[in-house]
Amino acid sequence: MAVIADRCPGIQVTVVDLNAERIAAWNDPDLSQLPVYEPELDAVVGRARGQNLHFTTAVEEAIAAADMVFISVNTPTKTRGLGAGQASDLRWVEASARTVAQAARGHTIVVEKSTLPVRTAEVIQTILSAATGDGNGCSFSVLSNPEFLAEGTAIPDLEAPDRVLIGGDDPAAIAALAAIYGQWVPAERILTTNLWSSELSKLTANAFLAQRISSINSIAAVCEATGADVREVAKAIGADSRIGAKFLQAGPGFGGSCFQKDILNLVYLYRHYGLEEVAAYWEQVVTLNTWQQQRIARLVVTRLFGTVSGKRIGVLGFAFKADTNDTRESPAIRICRDLLEEGAILQILDPKVEEGQITAGLVQPAGGGEGSWLPVADVHQAASGADALLLLTEWQAFAQIDWPAVAAVMRQPAWLFDTRAKADGAAARAAGLNVWTVGEGSG
Ligand code: UDX
Repeated sequence: MAVIADRCPGIQVTVVDLNAERIAAWNDPDLSQLPVYEPELDAVVGRARGQNLHFTTAVEEAIAAADMVFISVNTPTKTRGLGAGQASDLRWVEASARTVAQAARGHTIVVEKSTLPVRTAEVIQTILSAATGDGNGCSFSVLSNPEFLAEGTAIPDLEAPDRVLIGGDDPAAIAALAAIYGQWVPAERILTTNLWSSELSKLTANAFLAQRISSINSIAAVCEATGADVREVAKAIGADSRIGAKFLQAGPGFGGSCFQKDILNLVYLYRHYGLEEVAAYWEQVVTLNTWQQQRIARLVVTRLFGTVSGKRIGVLGFAFKADTNDTRESPAIRICRDLLEEGAILQILDPKVEEGQITAGLVQPAGGGEGSWLPVADVHQAASGADALLLLTEWQAFAQIDWPAVAAVMRQPAWLFDTRAKADGAAARAAGLNVWTVGEGSG
């Protein structure tokens, strides 16, 4: 919304939320205090806020004044009840649709921005049409406009998108939304489809991307076993224009709010339609991702003589990827939990993730492991007294570690486990560390 406001000075954009604290943070005069860390976002918000970008808790008022409403609430995987563990929880989408139905005036275009299961637009339409029948003169068009930005590169992704996708069946509504994007996105990059294709395209894009990561991680394991190098293999296959070079980095498995949730959502959909083989096919992408995380925790324990109980391990990075403070589904969570279960003492460093988020991720069920963890402020502290450093997020700073200084404060024999192939492994080896790098065979 900040980018829309920035690119379209003639449009008034109002972001509403029930959470007053969050809205206050978006209105904080100190732009470094925005609730989301995202490179360049502070500059965009700084330019538009107070001009044509507003943040408020006056939800109904803003809806009443709007010609177009974007529903951008979260849709996490259900944890209980029908479809638990796979289906999306649509309670906030439904609540938003009801609020829009009750507060809207005149004709309102309602845009699904949240990633949703296929045919959710039908639910929204049904709720809205109940309001249309109220006799208060309001009417609605529903569009699907999924978002493809990736965290860490959100602003450039929005400013120069590969494509914008608009699904719907009301040509005037589609044209209105296309005209907004058309102010900065070339017309040939604005694709229009029917509602269901649009909803399904978003889930499919994420499923294909996640599948690439599980595929390259499966190859990484074979590389380690055979002496091949996954980065050489990725380069060789990526040179084939049919495969392409992007999204072929082996790592600790994918995290983030989308991939796992969206695949499980598809799996649920396939099972609903009786497509068991298709469901099992896609489910395996998630299974392999979990396996990759467990395999990394296991190999740390194995290399440290089969036990990490009471041993210090420095954890470099907790966010699910670099350049974000987001920890949702971060591979660090499962890997750290497994090590805590084994009794390790983790010294966790992340340049952007706050301690509270780490705590939330690592809360163990009752009777969980005997390990413990503490947040640390720099690599030196993470390494202090540690038997190993475990690099989990590819922050640029981890490429420039002073290895002789770090090795000097570790307990020998010391290890570097680099799950992102980010650190200077040769320098770490030269400083006397044993080094394991994901996908690097020992020959
Ligand atoms: C993803 C999609 O890319 C985006 O289009 C969609 O809108 C939301 O979900 P995001 O989750 O923000 O975006 O980040 P992304 O860059 O896709 O990375 C997802 C995860 O995959 C991260 O944990 C990342 O570290 C991992 N990853 C990515 C790899 O392990 N290897 C790669 O080659 C690429």
